[in-house]
Amino acid sequence: MHPIRIAPSLLAADFAHLAEEVRSVETAGADWLHLDVMDGHFVPNLTFGPVVVQAIKGCATKPLDVHLMITDPWRYADAFLDAGADLLTFHVEVEGNGDAVALLEHVRRRGRKAGLSVQPDTPVERLRPYLDHLDLVLVMSVFAGFGGQKFMPEVLSKPAELRRLGYLGEVSMDGGIAAGTVAQSAGAGTNVFVAGTAVFGADDRAARIAELRRLATAAR
Ligand code: DX5
Ligand code: ZN
Repeated sequence: MHPIRIAPSLLAADFAHLAEEVRSVETAGADWLHLDVMDGHFVPNLTFGPVVVQAIKGCATKPLDVHLMITDPWRYADAFLDAGADLLTFHVEVEGNGDAVALLEHVRRRGRKAGLSVQPDTPVERLRPYLDHLDLVLVMSVFAGFGGQKFMPEVLSKPAELRRLGYLGEVSMDGGIAAGTVAQSAGAGTNVFVAGTAVFGADDRAARIAELRRLATAAR
C-alpha cells in the first residue's frame, strides 16, 4: 500500500505571504505541497506559472506536487521541471493536443514523477493507454478551476476502477477534501489527499492535518 500523504493546496494560502504559508504547513505536517497552475483556457481561472513555482521551491523542503490545469502541457512542462516540480500532473482531457505517453516518459526521464488527472465527468477508462507510464493519478472530486467547492461523491468509484484496470501507482483526490469527506476518499482507495480550504482555513493547521491523517488511516 502507498503511504498516506496530506498535500495542502497553496491555492488557499495567503499569496502575500507565501514563504510563511509554506513554512506553516510544512511545520504542521504536510507531506507534499500541491500547486495549482491554471491557464485561463483549460479552466476559467488564472493562477501562477513557473516563476512562482521556482520561488516556492526556494523556500520549501517538501516535494512540489504540480497540478497543471492547462491546455498545452507540452509547451510548458520543461519550465515547470526546471522550476523544481517533483511531480508533474496534467489532464487526460488534453490528450488530443500532443503525445501524452511521450510527455509522461519525458517527465520520468528527468527524474520526476508523472501524473494524469481526470475531471469528475471523465471516465477512468480514458487512462487505460497511459497506465504503464503513470506514477500518480489525480482524481478530481470537483470540477477543476476553483478552491472551496463541494466534494462530489460520484467520483468515489474511480480508485477501485483504476485498480481493476491494473493500475498500481499512487491515487490522489483533489477538491472538497475535509474532515467530513477524507474517510470516504481513503476507504475508496485514495492515498494522497489534496486539501486547500480545510488546511489553510483551519485555526490550528497542525491539528487539522493530524485529523485528516488519522481519519484517512482509520478508513483504510
Ligand atoms: C481545484 C484545485 C484544487 C483546489 C482544492 O481546481 O485543483 O487543488 O485548490 O481546494 P479545496 O480543498 O478548497 O477544494
Ligand atoms: Zn489541484
